[in-house]
Amino acid sequence: MFFSVLTISDRCSEGEAEDKSGPLLCELLSEEGEIKEYKIVPDEKDKISEALIFLCDEVKSDVVFTTGGTGLAPRDITPEATKAVIERETPGISEAIRYESLKITPKAMLSRAVSGIRGKTLIINLPGSPKAVRESLAVVLPVLSHAVETLSGNTQSCGGNYK
Ligand code: MTE
Repeated sequence: MFFSVLTISDRCSEGEAEDKSGPLLCELLSEEGEIKEYKIVPDEKDKISEALIFLCDEVKSDVVFTTGGTGLAPRDITPEATKAVIERETPGISEAIRYESLKITPKAMLSRAVSGIRGKTLIINLPGSPKAVRESLAVVLPVLSHAVETLSGNTQSCGGNYK
C-alpha cells in the first residue's frame, strides 16, 4: 500500500510548532506499506484541497491520511476541504473511528472528521493530537488493505471471514 500523510496546522506550517502527529503517522504506516509523501499545509480550505488533489491524482496514493483541523475551532476546515475533493463519502470509516474513540474520551464527539474516495484513493481525516492519531489509526488499520483492494476493483475476498 502507498500512503501519503498531510498535516493540517497553521502553527506547524509556519514553523512555530513541531509537527508530532504527521511523523508519528508516517512511522506507524511505514509498518503497513510505503510512505509516498508527507506535507504540511495551513488551515486554509483551498490549500488543503489542492494538496489532497495532488496526493490523490499525481502521487497516486492508495490512502491519504490527514491529521488536524477537524474540530470546532474557527479555523478548523479540514472536513469541508476534504468534502470538496471527494467523489463518494465513506461514512462507516469515520463513524467507526468516532465510535471507538468515544469509548476512550467523550471529546471524540468534537471531531467532525470525514472520509471518502477520490479516483482510486481513499482519504481519511484524523484529529490532530498524536494520542488521537494513534487511537484512530488502530481502528482503521485492520480493514485498510481490504478497502484498498475493493477500491481497485477486486471484490473477490469480500465473502471471507473477518475478525
Ligand atoms: N479522538 C481520539 N481517539 N482521541 C482523542 O484524544 N481528541 C478529540 C477529538 N478526537 C481525541 C479524539 C479532541 S480533544 C478534539 S478537539 C477533536 O478530536 C478535534 O481535533 P482536531 O481539531 O485536532 O482535529
